[in-house]
Amino acid sequence: MSEYAIVIRGGNVATGGEVIRCDIGISEGKVAALGNRLGTGGREIDAGGRLVLPGGIDNHCHIEQPPSSNAAVNADTFASATRSAAAGGTTTVICFSSQAKGGPVTDNLRAYHEKARQSLIDYSFHLIIADPTDAVLQELPPLIAEGHRSLKVFMTYASSVLNDAQLLRVLAMARKHGALVTVHAENHDAIMFLTKALLDAGLSSAKHHAWAKPMPVEREAVHRVIMLAELLDQPIQIFHVSGAGSAEEILRAQQRGLKVFGETCTQYLVHTVDNLDQQGFEGAKFLCSPALRTSADQEALWGYLRTGVLGMVSSDHAPYSYDDANGKKIRGDNAPFSVVPNGVPGLAARMPILFSEGVVKGRIDVPTFVAITAANAAKLFGISPQKGCIAVGADADIAIWDPEKRVTITNAMMHHGVDYTTYEGMELQGWPVITMSRGEIICENGDIKAKPGRGRFLARPPYDFIKPLKRFVTPFDPVNGVLVNDGR
Ligand code: URP
Ligand code: ZN
Ligand code: ZN
Repeated sequence: MSEYAIVIRGGNVATGGEVIRCDIGISEGKVAALGNRLGTGGREIDAGGRLVLPGGIDNHCHIEQPPSSNAAVNADTFASATRSAAAGGTTTVICFSSQAKGGPVTDNLRAYHEKARQSLIDYSFHLIIADPTDAVLQELPPLIAEGHRSLKVFMTYASSVLNDAQLLRVLAMARKHGALVTVHAENHDAIMFLTKALLDAGLSSAKHHAWAKPMPVEREAVHRVIMLAELLDQPIQIFHVSGAGSAEEILRAQQRGLKVFGETCTQYLVHTVDNLDQQGFEGAKFLCSPALRTSADQEALWGYLRTGVLGMVSSDHAPYSYDDANGKKIRGDNAPFSVVPNGVPGLAARMPILFSEGVVKGRIDVPTFVAITAANAAKLFGISPQKGCIAVGADADIAIWDPEKRVTITNAMMHHGVDYTTYEGMELQGWPVITMSRGEIICENGDIKAKPGRGRFLARPPYDFIKPLKRFVTPFDPVNGVLVNDGR
């Protein structure tokens, strides 16, 4: 009888912020032991020369999200999206249950839970709040208490934009009930004005998307929502920071001691505005919001990842197929940028690209790679230490990397339902050769081994990381309507 179900032997294991050579014993889906010369495993995996890292957490991906204003349909199901995640070393996804304006949150959420049962890997949800009416604000506390501990608000998109008064209502409710607020920060009115001006001038191709959404519209919205969150002492996470301008706003907030967190996405680290400027409609493949920026922005983002100002990199996986009348071409293959569905797919590519562009090219070290692909998201979203680390007692969510393997990305390798990847032809070094979820091998050498339905919902109980600072800008607590510090 073996001592462990699996032993991963002799790998370079990332644990506790360092990389050490050791064995990992796995039993009942959990890491049972770390050490040298561990006893036998029912399955022995030789990890000599390999890196053994926590499975990734992609804390921002859109999977089977119901259509919003543009009615485009996700080309992925939970099964295909999480297959894609597994192929790229990701073992947990946090995706979005959305509220339609005027509708309740709960009905969509229950239906979303049903869809998510097809997931191959563990998952949790952010709740998109598109319309914070009194009824919705009363609906939310029990849903937060059930473990949906993060909300997403939008400062643009006609279908979901909130004004400042509405943002404050959501922030106040989140503070009272212990949820993190995540933000899509872009100034809606400015975008609408610029879009009309561009279209009136006949400038409507994909590259003009970036002209309608230049950095100032993002920077202003980031600055504004930080101000609103500061007034109410509510922690926030800024999603998809695309360049230096908005990252600087986050840095300034952090320097003032505020709980303002930030992520960037793979596409902002490897694509630029030039990718939008292509023959015909091809640029639409790269059309996402915020818009792609410059190579100087890319280097700034790497710097902010190194210093921890930006704590994580997500894919913002938004699976709209290109050659599809329900996808990018929903309004035709000559449609103006303003009606092209926003977003790029990227679940599978996220970790390999970060490894190759980051670790192999010397921009980040392995502990930073682990922090920005898994550990920080686990802490921020309340699933640590179960997820995001290799430690005794944690779920055995592990990716074994061949750091030398050379791979040229093709769409087939992405295992998603989308008909393209913006990373087609990109040459990488380093690839996850085994992905394991709770001790089960779910992908090995590119072959998906797991069946849909094995993933579990991660209900997130209250956790300290997102507790407010108990610091208001005046002696008055406007959330609870009381004086603080004796009114001094
Ligand atoms: O362009 C993007 N990012 N599409 C996905 C939806 C969102 O705003 O995150
Ligand atoms: Zn967004
Ligand atoms: Zn998104």
